[in-house]
Amino acid sequence: MPNVDNSTTAKTLADLGAGNLTEINLLFRVQRKDFDLDVSASCSDFSALENLRVKWIGRRSGVLAKITENWLKPAASELRPIVGQALNELKAHVESVLEERRRALEADFVARAGLGKEGLDLSLPGVIRPIGSHHLIRQVFQEIEDIFVSIGFSVVEGPEIETPYYNFEALNIPEFHPVRDDMDTFYLELPPLSDKNAAKTPLLLRTHTSPMQIRTMEKQKPPVRVIVPGKVYRRDNPDATHSFIFHQVEGLAVDTDITFCDFTGTIEYFVKQFFGSGVKTRFRPSYFPFTEPSVEFDVSCPFCGGSGTAAGGGSCSKCKGAAWIELFGAGMVDPAVYGFVNYDAKKVSGFAFGIGIDRLAMLKYGIDDIQVFFQNDVRFLRQFP
Ligand code: PHE
Repeated sequence: MPNVDNSTTAKTLADLGAGNLTEINLLFRVQRKDFDLDVSASCSDFSALENLRVKWIGRRSGVLAKITENWLKPAASELRPIVGQALNELKAHVESVLEERRRALEADFVARAGLGKEGLDLSLPGVIRPIGSHHLIRQVFQEIEDIFVSIGFSVVEGPEIETPYYNFEALNIPEFHPVRDDMDTFYLELPPLSDKNAAKTPLLLRTHTSPMQIRTMEKQKPPVRVIVPGKVYRRDNPDATHSFIFHQVEGLAVDTDITFCDFTGTIEYFVKQFFGSGVKTRFRPSYFPFTEPSVEFDVSCPFCGGSGTAAGGGSCSKCKGAAWIELFGAGMVDPAVYGFVNYDAKKVSGFAFGIGIDRLAMLKYGIDDIQVFFQNDVRFLRQFP
């Protein structure tokens, strides 16, 4: 059976026979007294205080809510202002007493716990908020940036969505050139022809950071010394050494007197800074349409000291006994490229390189599966704080 509330606040003023100022004020005075009695009877701790708060000013069935519902709302219009004013006074009284009690209880608690004036115990251990750390790939970017910045390169970044012109043509890779097969990539769906504002050329996710060579040279005159860290995309099937997204740092140096020696010297300096001064470098002929001559840089295996044999005998598992590990592609900028950016190929020369960061990080930190970089497994990430 539902509870029947027989208290005065469940009835209307008409039911109670209160029809004038004196009677109404009397009713409110009784309520106020009840409240004061309640407070002095039980308000010795926080939970008693909370019970009082709910009983008196609880939104749904607190005494004041009931007075509003049953006394104020149905009151005859000439009585309503009187009821309203008395109700406001009662409410102010209840709220200020409860607040006063809350402060007193708090002060009492602080004093009993010996917490001093501010309620602060400076001898308690602090709140430890674990701060995250940079992803290993980001850390390796940083290492590489530091090395190149220290020898006069600046860091620039470019768009991951490119036009075929910057990704291919201006890098001396015309349409139907077979090297495009290696860079099969993701084209973005074209907007409908009805969209007059849409770009006319198709767009693609860049397959390398090399488009930034062009964008940089378009913007500035020689001398140019930049590196370009960033994400690149290719339609590769994921396995331990392939991923459809990976990271590169492009490098480009162009000036009036840059020689092949400057080129190999710079690369050698970088590799020794990155892997340690004990490693050796070598280059082998290679091919890229935008460099001539093109090379592939190798480093002597940092794990077996370039011997090809493991410490305990047998062949080194990292370089598979080869003593060398292939690092990245590079070369002297092909004069044809200068034609696309209005540089005078007779006056300037330079070199470019494209370092695969994931591969470098795997080598340096002994990681055997590229996929771990993208899986966000904290057990992996925590190993590189
Ligand atoms: N862009 C080439 C690649 O992704 C690497 C490269 C960059 C080679 C610069 C030469 C010069 O394979």
